[in-house]
Amino acid sequence: MTSVDIQPFAIEKNPAPVSDGRRQRLLESPVFGEVFTDHMATIKYSKDQGWHGAKIGPRQALSLDPSALVLHYAQAIFEGMKAYRLDGGGTGLFRPEQNARRFRHSATRLAMPLLPEELFTESVRALARVDNDWIPSAPGFALYLRPFMVATEAVLGVRSSAEYLYCVVASPVGPYFKSGAAAVTLWASDHFTRAAPGGTGDAKCGGNYAASLAAQAEAIREQCDQVVFLDAVERCWIEELGGMNIFFVFADGSIQTPPLTGTILAGITRESLITMARDLGMTVREEPYSIDQWQEDATSGRLRESFACGTAAVVAPIGRVKGRNHHFTIGDGSPGLITQRLKAALTDLQFGRAPDPRGWLERLS
Ligand code: PLP
Ligand code: COI
Repeated sequence: MTSVDIQPFAIEKNPAPVSDGRRQRLLESPVFGEVFTDHMATIKYSKDQGWHGAKIGPRQALSLDPSALVLHYAQAIFEGMKAYRLDGGGTGLFRPEQNARRFRHSATRLAMPLLPEELFTESVRALARVDNDWIPSAPGFALYLRPFMVATEAVLGVRSSAEYLYCVVASPVGPYFKSGAAAVTLWASDHFTRAAPGGTGDAKCGGNYAASLAAQAEAIREQCDQVVFLDAVERCWIEELGGMNIFFVFADGSIQTPPLTGTILAGITRESLITMARDLGMTVREEPYSIDQWQEDATSGRLRESFACGTAAVVAPIGRVKGRNHHFTIGDGSPGLITQRLKAALTDLQFGRAPDPRGWLERLS
């Protein structure tokens, strides 16, 4: 990667921030993604000027021309990461350079300009520092950071934009699932697919999430928490959830997760858990697993646990799976021991409670 001079972010403090008392109340039990901080980071891009105008300013509405390309052809990508209040004091980010790299991967697929990794990580650090008081301290809570980039050129021709806005907003969050259930129920979609070979499945672009909504609505109608997608070709291989990767835990203690074939997102939580599980001496396979085999193994007891994982959801035990042709319980339907052990190992690292031999936790303060 070419090195760039990082101009410091100009900082304009919000002249009317949320009061201390109101912020404290908001931090007590935020619904995921519904509460926002006082500031945002922005950087503009144009073909002539490149990346310019890096700024942390008051959080405010954006002004876009109604013909802005993003509003018509969805040239939009995003990331999701968290700033943690650490147990021993101070705050930190978890592997932010991985999000910076994935953002560039998504930009490449959507024919967008590549934001230098250092500008990405610096934007997130600068925002988390300015909004430091918004990083919650309740156990398991964090400040969710949402970097995104949209095409802003006003033109209706179907082509890549010449102008973009990169922006980061921040939102204090607690648990992802409203139900608060110990284990989630999945709906296996046999009708909708999320991504096809050659498509955008491994890019974090808004369109993938728009395409998942009808399937997610079906899951909710069927009294499930989330949809699990199957592959678009053979319609039998488990891929991932709308916003999480998936793992399977077997009676012999080994774990398995679908391979990165281009149709699923390369989750940073996924990769971290694979590495940590191997460190703990577990056998980890990145191999395809079919929905029928999942049902058979859950029924026979060969499979003991399953969980979903991602930045927002952390590690979410899966208790039950439903579908038009499937209906089964994983183990006894409650969170499994290996799932809980891996979740503890991950969150101990993220909250600064465990040794960090790989330097995954970046201290902010
Ligand atoms: N898969 C999808 C479709 C996602 O949106 C996410 C969330 O970012 C993940 C997987 C998990 O990725 P990560 O662990 O990097 O948050
Ligand atoms: C994340 O875990 O960061 C995600 O992006 C998932 C979802 C909130 C879209």
